[in-house]
Amino acid sequence: MNEQQSIAVLVSGSGSNLQAIIDASERGEIHCRVGVVISNKADAYGLVRARNHGIPTEVVDHRSFESREAFDARLVEVIRSAGAELVCLAGFMRVLTPVFLRAFPHRILNIHPALLPSFPGTHGPAQALRYGVRFSGCTVHFLDEGVDTGPIIVQAVVPVHEDDTEETLAARILKEEHRIYPMAIRLFLEGRLTVEGRKVVTKDAEKIPDFCHRNPDA
Ligand code: GRF
Repeated sequence: MNEQQSIAVLVSGSGSNLQAIIDASERGEIHCRVGVVISNKADAYGLVRARNHGIPTEVVDHRSFESREAFDARLVEVIRSAGAELVCLAGFMRVLTPVFLRAFPHRILNIHPALLPSFPGTHGPAQALRYGVRFSGCTVHFLDEGVDTGPIIVQAVVPVHEDDTEETLAARILKEEHRIYPMAIRLFLEGRLTVEGRKVVTKDAEKIPDFCHRNPDA
């Protein structure tokens, strides 16, 4: 993909991951531009962030469609008319149907605030706290037809502290999300990701600083 290619980012809320993606693209760390930001909620702060950077926005309110499929078909239309090659879900709180998935095969990324396959669905940090795990983190994966089940591209780990609340853990995880989402997009845009069954094979992963934190003695 070249510099001019466009990605679509779908949000429902704050859009801090969107901001990390915009910043990475403005710094030239990922070679694409955000061509459109779509939200199913008119009051999503992510839309403000997009407008602040002169990025076109579109509100597609799921409540004005008769079915999930009709909603998805409209999303596909907006993304195609923006000429976007890659779709990034960034806190987009709707489950998408095969109508959407089949329109962009292996070209939809999602970020989830847990180390999948643990704690899929909503409230990943709260689920991790309730379970009592010592480490949690985040995952960028390709979307498939399940909920948070698609092939994993990048993960980052954070410790869980004794006195963590859902908010403090979520904030620690979010910081890592902002680091690994642009990294996953870069790998995709550079054509370094191949999906083999349920695994993603990454070309030259060992050459990427911070792709994988390892204990130097391990
Ligand atoms: C993030 O924790 C993301 O993993 C989850 O929803 C949250 C969105 O945050 N899917 P933001 O809107 O990017 O700030």
